[in-house]
Amino acid sequence: MSKRKDWKVETEIAQALGWLENSYKGVVPAIYPSTTFERSEDGSYPNGRTYSRDHNPTFDQAEQLLTRLEGGTESLLFSSGMSAALAVFQALEPGDHVIAPKVMYWSLRNWLLTKGAKWGIETSFVENGNEAALKAVVRPGKTRLLWLETPANTTWVQDDISAWADVAHGCGAKLAVDNTVATPLITRPIAHGADIVMHSATKYLNGHSDVLAGTLTTAGSGAFWQEIRQNRASGGAVMGPMEAWLLLRGMRTLSVRVKQASHNAMAIATHFENHPGIREVLYPGLASSAQYNLAQKQMTGGFGGMLSICPMGGESVAMKVAANMKLFKRATSLGGVESLVEHRASIEGEGTPCPPDLLRLSVGLEDKDDLIEDIEQALSAVQE
Ligand SMILES: Cc1ncc(COP(=O)(O)O)c(C=O)c1O
Repeated sequence: MSKRKDWKVETEIAQALGWLENSYKGVVPAIYPSTTFERSEDGSYPNGRTYSRDHNPTFDQAEQLLTRLEGGTESLLFSSGMSAALAVFQALEPGDHVIAPKVMYWSLRNWLLTKGAKWGIETSFVENGNEAALKAVVRPGKTRLLWLETPANTTWVQDDISAWADVAHGCGAKLAVDNTVATPLITRPIAHGADIVMHSATKYLNGHSDVLAGTLTTAGSGAFWQEIRQNRASGGAVMGPMEAWLLLRGMRTLSVRVKQASHNAMAIATHFENHPGIREVLYPGLASSAQYNLAQKQMTGGFGGMLSICPMGGESVAMKVAANMKLFKRATSLGGVESLVEHRASIEGEGTPCPPDLLRLSVGLEDKDDLIEDIEQALSAVQE
């Protein structure tokens, strides 16, 4: 486990911190399927492990690699992105006030509107990218958590993490950031003042559309974080050891995958920006975007693999364009090696802030020209 202190992040990722497996010096870690661990004669647990609902040794390497990538002090793996997010909200008290952006992962927004509200957590949803709107809804003494997702799924509008951190800390609240879309290769929210970073590790961290996983990373270790740790241990929303092992395997190629996906997404965004068949391209990396300065401030080394296109002609045309695609698969989710297209408004349903003509693209690792050609032929086929 010894290593130089100055490895670059790409090296840490490829080597998964350079750890060797304990028994045989394997360069790949072992999987620990045991759910329970023996106590010593004196009643202690010599290796600090008791039962897998609390923790499993297979989690260690992925958790520590993620802590390094996010620049935090500790990370926890969860069974899904949603269970990771809910462990944060369940650390609140009934009557606590939360602030979140209007455009955010729809399932979590729905949870806040329904279950969260039922359990006494009141959420104010503010317009994305509007700091004045954010400041206007703060309730001193009541607001305990600001939840931010930037760029926001599905319009990729950004918010300034450091401005949100200032507002949160000014009223004694915590700031949690869903960093699923940007990944720590591009944005490290803790460096901008966030207290907690969340990932749906089902997406880029795993990267192969074959593991459901979530993570939390903390900047500190205070009472709020201890409550979250307790929520995982008692609620049991942990990963299985096999999945945790697969997650680490996926994470070891994160930097090359994020670079290639960003490169492809930029090529697609640039190609279709002024295309006669497209009303609008939504992508943080476009220099013409109103938020380009902010993107440059808090996104480095690329702008990610997620973008949206709005074809000319409205919702029915957008549905046909998606139907005509041959290379992009019509499926939900994001961050895998294969490119996906999704008509989001029809998935999100009533009350969605998503424009009805929007097609969300999760750009994968294929050749960029093949991807552009697929969108071109799908647009042309609508005209025929
Ligand atoms: C931005 C974002 N956050 C959270 C989640 C929830 O993650 P999971 O599906 O792993 O529960 C998703 C899932 O699509 C997501 O896109």
